Amino acid sequence: MAAGEHPSHGFGTRAVHAGLRPDPSYGSVIPAIHQTSTFRQPRPGEFVEDYDYSRSANPTRRALEDALGELEGGLAVAFSSGLAAEHAVITATCGAGAHVVLPADLYGGTYRLIDKVLGRWGLTHTLVDQTDPEALAAAITDATRLIWVETPTNPRLDVVDIAQVVAAKRHARVAVDNTFATPANQNPLADGADFVVHSTTKYLGGHSDVVGGAVITRDPGAHEQLRFVQNSVGAVPGPVDCFLVHRGLRTLHLRMRAHAASAAAVVELLQHTAGVTDVRWPGFSGMVSFRHPRALELVARTRLFTLAESLGGVESLIEVPQAMTHQSVEGSAAAVPADLVRLSCGIEDPADLVDDLRQAIAAAAESTA
Ligand SMILES: Cc1ncc(COP(=O)(O)O)c(C=O)c1O
Repeated sequence: MAAGEHPSHGFGTRAVHAGLRPDPSYGSVIPAIHQTSTFRQPRPGEFVEDYDYSRSANPTRRALEDALGELEGGLAVAFSSGLAAEHAVITATCGAGAHVVLPADLYGGTYRLIDKVLGRWGLTHTLVDQTDPEALAAAITDATRLIWVETPTNPRLDVVDIAQVVAAKRHARVAVDNTFATPANQNPLADGADFVVHSTTKYLGGHSDVVGGAVITRDPGAHEQLRFVQNSVGAVPGPVDCFLVHRGLRTLHLRMRAHAASAAAVVELLQHTAGVTDVRWPGFSGMVSFRHPRALELVARTRLFTLAESLGGVESLIEVPQAMTHQSVEGSAAAVPADLVRLSCGIEDPADLVDDLRQAIAAAAESTA
């Protein structure tokens, strides 16, 4: 048993070792990047393991999938983006006429995929506040095949009780987008969820240099179905991207602690700053949101926080979801207020991040004069 697989090891030990098996040819401690599209067959139809073509399987991708499976406690399938991973879960669990329950606050791209793309193929959906158990129970119908959970939600950072959703699911399956929390803070499969989904672009990769996604499940049949979609649709990550995400995983526990320390310092400032309201932080990770009447001016005035979409990298980012990441929910029940600011607090020195926000808020307030 490799160190990363040992269930009694702490999360940090598992993060460092997950998916790493010394290379059988040269003993390299870090797996080689198998930048190949195809594999030589000793005889027709005879493969080394199951490697015949890299859309179907690739050793660098397999190492990442092993690692993700070890950290989330299931069987992982890697994709070329978080949205490709979401598409695989939905198409593996739902057919035409199926119904999906969505959170009333969610990543705009998830809503766009279900409403604008899969809706054309007969998928229906209901947006509901999943922190309200009665509203959730009322939203689940006989046709519901999937309950999509985000916790914390993007961008308002509502925390949903996964076990409560699982208890209410009836015949539906539960998929949890664990992108904001990461397995360092939350294990949805242990709470009874059927699927965990990640945009590995974010905290798992951790350095804003790769786009990727993953799904993890404990059900071997569902894992097979996901692999079938992965191979049939072909939204697979390249070997170098898999290598980068895998490298990111090895420091996940340290980074998540540092992200949380930055967020705590920033929250302390925001809670005592005039003009700032509705400060939200789930108490872990680096994601913080707040409201400010001069949101658009404020985000253009930070010097350390970069004005950009995405999150979860070592550097701090700032954005206005309504104008940037959440335009596709505009006009729906999941619409985001225009004065909401979302921060992804990085791992810089917290005092520098606090100073930067303080000066940006002051400058934005002055710009009203
Ligand atoms: C919570 C969440 N899930 C999924 C996605 C989609 O991931 P990707 O951009 O890797 O396709 C995002 C992207 O921002 C996200 O924030």
